[in-house]
Amino acid sequence: MSDRKLSGEVFYPSKEVLDRTQVQCESIYQSAEKDSLSFWENEANKLHWFRKWDKVLDDSKKPFFKWFINGKTNIAYNCLDVHCETYRRNKVALVWEGENGDFRSLSYFALRRETCRFANVLRSLGVKKGDRVTIYMGRVPEIVTAMLACARIGAIHSVVYGGFSVESLHERLEDSQSKVLIVADGAYQRGKIVELKKIADEALQRAATVESVLVIKRTGHEINMEFGRDFWYHDLMSSPIAGNSCDIEIMDSEDPLYLLYTSGTTGKPKAIMHTHGGYMVGTYSTTKYVFDLSDEDRFWCAADPGWVTGHSYIVYGPLLNGATCFMYEGAPNFPNPGRWWSMIEKYGINILYAAPTAIRGFMRYGDAWVKRYNLSSLRLLGSVGEPINPEAWRWYHKVVGGERCPIMDTWWQTETGVVMISPLPCTPLKPGSGTKPFPGIQVDILDEKGMRTDDDEEGYLVIKNPWPSMLRTIWNDPERYIQQYWSRFPGMYLTGDSARRDVDGYYWIIGRVDDVIKVSGYRLGTAEIESALVSHQAVAEAAAIGLPHSVKGHAIHCYVLLKAGFEKSDKLIEELRQHVGHEVGPIAKPESIEIVDSLPKTRSGKIMRRVLKAKALGIDPGNLSTLEE
Ligand code: WTA
Repeated sequence: MSDRKLSGEVFYPSKEVLDRTQVQCESIYQSAEKDSLSFWENEANKLHWFRKWDKVLDDSKKPFFKWFINGKTNIAYNCLDVHCETYRRNKVALVWEGENGDFRSLSYFALRRETCRFANVLRSLGVKKGDRVTIYMGRVPEIVTAMLACARIGAIHSVVYGGFSVESLHERLEDSQSKVLIVADGAYQRGKIVELKKIADEALQRAATVESVLVIKRTGHEINMEFGRDFWYHDLMSSPIAGNSCDIEIMDSEDPLYLLYTSGTTGKPKAIMHTHGGYMVGTYSTTKYVFDLSDEDRFWCAADPGWVTGHSYIVYGPLLNGATCFMYEGAPNFPNPGRWWSMIEKYGINILYAAPTAIRGFMRYGDAWVKRYNLSSLRLLGSVGEPINPEAWRWYHKVVGGERCPIMDTWWQTETGVVMISPLPCTPLKPGSGTKPFPGIQVDILDEKGMRTDDDEEGYLVIKNPWPSMLRTIWNDPERYIQQYWSRFPGMYLTGDSARRDVDGYYWIIGRVDDVIKVSGYRLGTAEIESALVSHQAVAEAAAIGLPHSVKGHAIHCYVLLKAGFEKSDKLIEELRQHVGHEVGPIAKPESIEIVDSLPKTRSGKIMRRVLKAKALGIDPGNLSTLEE
């Protein structure tokens, strides 16, 4: 870092932080800048490979990049077995608290055993290398072992967030052609039961490929079990099928590890594909450097394993580093707004990684709830999922972090697999800025013509060079992969975000420039919400937009054109909201639905959401030359 004084509001790292950190920031940046391939290769060398690679990067078929060519490894082996050979064997890997106060903790040894048993159960259901397995449950330890069990035997997991509902699950089961569904009977959320198995039953009526359903008992309430298709997990786990050891599948670096569906510009959610080798290297090194993780730390990533943040920073990154992770099942403010802080005190959490929407939510309750607890164990904080407004940043820093914890505002995406723009512990911080690209990553901001923007000028955020944990393709749709990410500015990865860079070279993310809406940090597409609306018998056409919201960041607002014969009423509007909740999931329920007589369209019939948005915000809609009427 240069000693030059930075502009604006700056928080310089304290002496305590600099003295303590194990991250050699300067030399990491320097070595990555000098030669990013050697930087990644050096990181890869810190992990276990059954066979080392012949070459780090193959870019001969770009944008279909390949990493660690002919390397053989297994990410689950690196997460568990490697540690079981060391003093970490008896170290706690996972500490878990249920919303109802249930508690579990698993050592690395125990986590490996449970994973092996689970993997044997999956094999007994006929799951083989390359098969897809969908996982649909709440935040319980079995979601972690389910993912690792798949990885161990080379099956490709596809986790569907437990807050999604029938149609979202159906689409993902169908597109991935999953052979097995792992589901919980239910999940606890705010003291109520989310009927996961019931939703799955409905989704399964629409999806044909699933042969077996493995049901994990969490809530223990009455559910339907279909003979011959549905199996209780605990029955199989306690049967001789589930031995304590399980042969590891040796995977090629480029073999798929998982699919994770995410919303894009148009159409259905698409399956982002990540691999064993490159993703492993990326999650391992970003976790280590960004969170300055050391052996004695207890790390809490408060995301859900159903989203990429949970994949990379609850499961893979921390376990690759041999850390102790904490996971909490339920709602942040249940039974009261002190819940999170009570658990930080109780479990001695050192690192908290959360979304701005949660921070803003807690801010509303005032400082007293936080101050009631001793949070002195915290030494580093993280933010992810959406821009953090400076006010929330300052509150997080002062009230939660006691002014001693640096905040790592990490920008990244499902597609990037890992953090791309973020401070390291030694970086001077500016509230609201993710600061600089991670070592080895080159980003830029371009204008409409593809020219680099000036300082402080907004433009398209792009990534200029490949990185190991990048998505490899969109499952079943390589054309769309090229089209969506690599076509707007040839040779560059288009992020879909707009951003600006200040005079100090710090990056400030502004938000999505496409039809993606980030609601409370959750990524949704206008298309999913609109197609759920038009699947209702009363709806002819629908448009969804995101408008700013003080806690959620953005909220969904919809405009609906009714079919002839249907009358506008409050009852119908509520019915439509519920319908979206039932089809997509409660997180997608629109904040408002307005029944309209027409929608602004281009002459070719595309809905101009930008016009609706401008109208709702009372701002100039810009160029209207393509508007039909
Ligand atoms: C947004 C989540 C500002 C951004 C990891 C991105 C952020 C999208 C930040 C990806 C951040 C994520 N500051 N915006 N620190 N982190 N975003 O795929 O719009 O669920 O494109 O991945 O979240 O969302 P996704």
